[in-house]
Amino acid sequence: MSNEKLEKIKKELQEDLQNVKTETFLNELKVKYLGKKGLITELNSEIKNIPNEEKKSFGMAVNEIRNLFNTSYDEKLKAFKEEELNKKLASETIDITLPSKKIKRGSLHPMTLITEEFEDLFVSMGYTVYEGPEIESDENCFQKLNIPKGHPARDAQDTFYLKDEFENFLLRSQTSTAQVRAMEENVEKKPLRIVCPGKVYRRDEDATHSHQFMQIEGLVIDENVSMADLKGTLELFCKKILGEKTEVRFRPSYFPFTEPSVEVDVSCFKCQGKGCNLCKQTGWIEVLGAGMVHPNVLQMCGYDPKKYQGFAFGTGLDRFAMFKYGIPDIRTIYGNDIRFIEQFARKDDTYEIK
Ligand code: PHE
Repeated sequence: MSNEKLEKIKKELQEDLQNVKTETFLNELKVKYLGKKGLITELNSEIKNIPNEEKKSFGMAVNEIRNLFNTSYDEKLKAFKEEELNKKLASETIDITLPSKKIKRGSLHPMTLITEEFEDLFVSMGYTVYEGPEIESDENCFQKLNIPKGHPARDAQDTFYLKDEFENFLLRSQTSTAQVRAMEENVEKKPLRIVCPGKVYRRDEDATHSHQFMQIEGLVIDENVSMADLKGTLELFCKKILGEKTEVRFRPSYFPFTEPSVEVDVSCFKCQGKGCNLCKQTGWIEVLGAGMVHPNVLQMCGYDPKKYQGFAFGTGLDRFAMFKYGIPDIRTIYGNDIRFIEQFARKDDTYEIK
């Protein structure tokens, strides 16, 4: 009787196991066979009614069914877990063939472009780039450049002064301060060939003047340096930056720290010298101040003016950027408007002066 029951349960279990399609059903089977009132559990409790001589074989048969259930259960549960994991992995795969999101490339600021162009040109002529601080002493900005206190030349370069215990300091009004520093730092008083780009400050504010702008200063100190070297250098520089057809003219001028001093004009690159609104109908545009370093300046910075001569030049980088890129208002250069800066993306390689 019990053997029949046993066979019946075994058969039912085999059928049930074949029909397992879900984990829930598998767990239901666990209750059905091994739960408190489960079929296999019941078989166990029948052992006590079995005649002694059959107990062993009955018991073994029950164990066999339980083992059948347990092994199948473990196998199927493992299969379900694996299937679940694979589904999850499949749904989370990353398609690396998709094109990436475009990252917006920034562009260099026009002042960076123009500064680098100037630096590259002078470095190719054997100059090194030297940068001084924007907060300077009155000595370096004026006195050692031959502009003592009360000198009228100070008026043209009125700047911003620091207060209280720093009242001897100011925001430099010209990069010529770097001349002083470079000469003084050169303790062995050897020849010098430097360009000094940087920000300068003046109390100005309109479409062509900003309270903060950029200059680049050049300084050459050596023995036997003459005005001819100055003229040759600046002519080459103007042609390289503004085009080979550019004509250059030198006019006598005055700067306290150079003697003689000149102002440098170039033929208007917009109208080729015919006369237009850019050159105010003159055909010429003023671009540089320059001159032979004043012996007083050489002496104050520790160079023997009998042995050494030098020439210096300075120009506004903003002015060149405005000419070169056709920027009508200097204030846009410092306005931080990304739409303005974006227009200069990689223009440095392709831009031509028209
Ligand atoms: N520092 C002068 C200026 O700002 C320019 C200059 C530089 C002139 C060097 C002569 C020599 O106006």
